[in-house]
Amino acid sequence: MDPASWTSKHKPQSLKDVVGNDEVRTKFTQWLQSWKTGIPKQRAAFLHGPPGVGKTVTVESSANDFGFELVEKNASDYRTEESIRRFAGLASQYSGFFNKKRIILLDELDGVYGTVDRGAIPAITRIIKDTRVPIVLTANDYWDRRFTAFRDKKQYLILEFKKPTAREVLKHLTKIVRREGIAAEEEALRFIANRNQGDVRAAVNDLQALAQGKVKLTFEDVSWLAHRDRKDLIFSVLRQTVYGKSCETARRSIEAADVDLDMFFEWIYENAPHHFNDASDLSKAMTALASADTYRARIQRTRNWKLLPYMIDHMTAGVAMAREKSKPSGWVPFRFPQRMRMLSTTRGTRKTTKDIGSKIGRRLHISSAGSQRDILPYLRIIFEENPRMAAGLAEGFRLNEDEVIFIAGGKRKANPILKARNERGS
Ligand SMILES: Nc1ncnc2c1ncn2[C@@H]1O[C@H](COP(=O)(O)OP(=O)(O)O)[C@@H](O)[C@H]1O
Ligand SMILES: [Mg+2]
Repeated sequence: MDPASWTSKHKPQSLKDVVGNDEVRTKFTQWLQSWKTGIPKQRAAFLHGPPGVGKTVTVESSANDFGFELVEKNASDYRTEESIRRFAGLASQYSGFFNKKRIILLDELDGVYGTVDRGAIPAITRIIKDTRVPIVLTANDYWDRRFTAFRDKKQYLILEFKKPTAREVLKHLTKIVRREGIAAEEEALRFIANRNQGDVRAAVNDLQALAQGKVKLTFEDVSWLAHRDRKDLIFSVLRQTVYGKSCETARRSIEAADVDLDMFFEWIYENAPHHFNDASDLSKAMTALASADTYRARIQRTRNWKLLPYMIDHMTAGVAMAREKSKPSGWVPFRFPQRMRMLSTTRGTRKTTKDIGSKIGRRLHISSAGSQRDILPYLRIIFEENPRMAAGLAEGFRLNEDEVIFIAGGKRKANPILKARNERGS
């Protein structure tokens, strides 16, 4: 696990910090407890359930709490006879170094790191029959035909892990933002928790991508996930763009994904610099993005949609092909585009400016953009210098109170103008 990832940094060290599956976790610790006084009938526990719900971390953190030494393995370790023998050796000794008790964890029998060989299962079950230390197995799919050997409830403590509820996930996320010193709106965290439907690992990864390096996390920061562009979609297209091996994969990914192109452009623009660590690669990637942006502007101006494929090619294949000397840099989280965040936080301001622009434009028979550019700056000066004249102009342009406050640059500065206008009116 990458130490920079929050799933690793904020991994529960003690069982009390693991959320969800309370009953199952109690059964598990009772079973571990029973090893303190001898060897119980069930010499192995089989923890199963969907990924990211805390199977591994339950074993790890209870080992901590109990002061047991944990020997962790995953499926790829049972490939060779020799590794199985080593495992058997560990299991046959009564206790670990300095008499510390030991737990052996065979993690993810059917997991992402490769699946245990069918042939290894009989060896594992044999070892379990005689083990003198607790052995824990984890898997996603208990009903996998290869695992029928583990169905005997007399020999195995079978524990099913379910997805923690959104409330439980929220509890964990809340703890993380507190430790990171981020002021997060509860709505924002709840949103992330709900989206990931009980996958704690995925929720924590989302949180990191959205909140790392920030002092505040608002609902608005995360709610864009809801529109149409699902985050995993964005991330996978992004990954294929930034790391795509061929033009075809890079280009096709975006076509298949049906994401909003302008938004996706911002994503690439924000993230590319963090994923190319060679300067000349990065320069090529940014040049490709600049070309894409040129096409984007031209399309916007001329509505010539035939240019769209060029924009797409430059921003996807162009970026992917820039990778020549950049080395893989480990796990770098994708970040939310800053520019879009800024656009969304200034949305109110931009809308007010536009409304004022069109009000003035209507009176003066000029465009809204023209009045924003040519008239508004002078209004600002007048509003600052001459409340009476400002009041007259506000009247003439039919500006409402909010707009007067906006041009004056604050309520305090607007007060004399609003007062003058009231006096005129009466
Ligand atoms: N129930 C949970 N409580 C707190 N953190 C969790 C929980 N489940 C997962 N995590 C986080 O996600 C990471 C991966 O979880 P893991 O225990 O490996 O899930 P599983 O084994 O069920 O796939 C953990 O290191 C931890 O950071
Ligand atoms: Mg795990």
